[in-house]
Amino acid sequence: MGKANPLMPQTVTVLDITTETPDVKTLRVAGKEGIPFDFMPGQCAMLSVPPVGEAIFSITSSPHCRDCLEFSIKRVGDVSGVLHELVSGRQLGIRGPYGNGFPVDEMKGKDLLFIGGGIGLAPLRSLIGYCFANREEYGHIDIVYGARSPADLVRKSEIGETWPEQPDSTVYLTVDAEFPDWSGHVGFVPSYVSELAFTPENRIAVTCGPPIMIKFVLQALEKLNFAPEHVITTLEMRMKCGVGKCGRCNLGSVYVCKDGPVFSLAQLNELPSEY
Ligand SMILES: Cc1cc2nc3c(=O)[nH]c(=O)nc-3n(C[C@H](O)[C@H](O)[C@H](O)COP(=O)(O)OP(=O)(O)OC[C@H]3O[C@@H](n4cnc5c(N)ncnc54)[C@H](O)[C@@H]3O)c2cc1C
Ligand code: FES
Repeated sequence: MGKANPLMPQTVTVLDITTETPDVKTLRVAGKEGIPFDFMPGQCAMLSVPPVGEAIFSITSSPHCRDCLEFSIKRVGDVSGVLHELVSGRQLGIRGPYGNGFPVDEMKGKDLLFIGGGIGLAPLRSLIGYCFANREEYGHIDIVYGARSPADLVRKSEIGETWPEQPDSTVYLTVDAEFPDWSGHVGFVPSYVSELAFTPENRIAVTCGPPIMIKFVLQALEKLNFAPEHVITTLEMRMKCGVGKCGRCNLGSVYVCKDGPVFSLAQLNELPSEY
């Protein structure tokens, strides 16, 4: 384990697979000596299953977990489909870590507002785990997380039971519509953020989720007077190489795989608006 060559695929073994929602599974994988490389929250890795192909996924475990890496994967196509079919003991290729990760040092001393939707919880979960592991470095932690339905909430017991028990932390859950088994908040994540009326003083907001959710969350935060420098998000461009070589993910002169995927709203405002 340690600083591996991020271009060189390594082999990891699937320890187990958990079904989170009807279309999301979490894979725990490990090399011979635990995690195959060091990483920071917000970084990603390419998972490959020959001969099907490879795709990039956020590492959802916290860097403090040294036994394994975790990936929460939504089934959308070929690679994610075959990853869903794997069983414990199967091997797969991994290369990484890729991307810049979240600015954990700049976030020190600040109150934190995490806003996630659906599978967008994956990179946020790594960051939230990191902040809880370094609890004294950060102020109050608010987490707003939503999904289409109660069945689509990823990591339900961790979010609903473990996170609210952490010191100085509050968790707000919402689903898009009324469901018989749901007595919590109903409504879209961006409107819930507006309703909760978070103040921007000494607070950094970090949001990940479907592009449409991010668009409206950014608008909601702007209306709440958050400065663009204090709003952070991740971009999910299509990627191939992951290392700034193939030109698949560029926005102007910026390569999302290398310079991102984490950007502040201030940085995004300087980029071509095709994301
Ligand atoms: C930085 C980054 C982090 C990611 N993290 C995660 C994660 O933690 N969990 C997760 O489930 N997914 C994540 N993704 C998305 C994941 O990489 C894609 O879903 C994956 O490429 C699907 O591969 P596939 O072979 O299963 O699908 P394909 O067969 O390649 O495609 C299936 C369908 O999905 C569409 N699609 C594929 N990739 C993307 C994309 N990036 N954006 C929009 N549409 C796309 C295709 O157009 C097609 O319609 C991430 C993507 C990026 C760029
Ligand atoms: S994925 Fe190849 S340049 Fe970014």
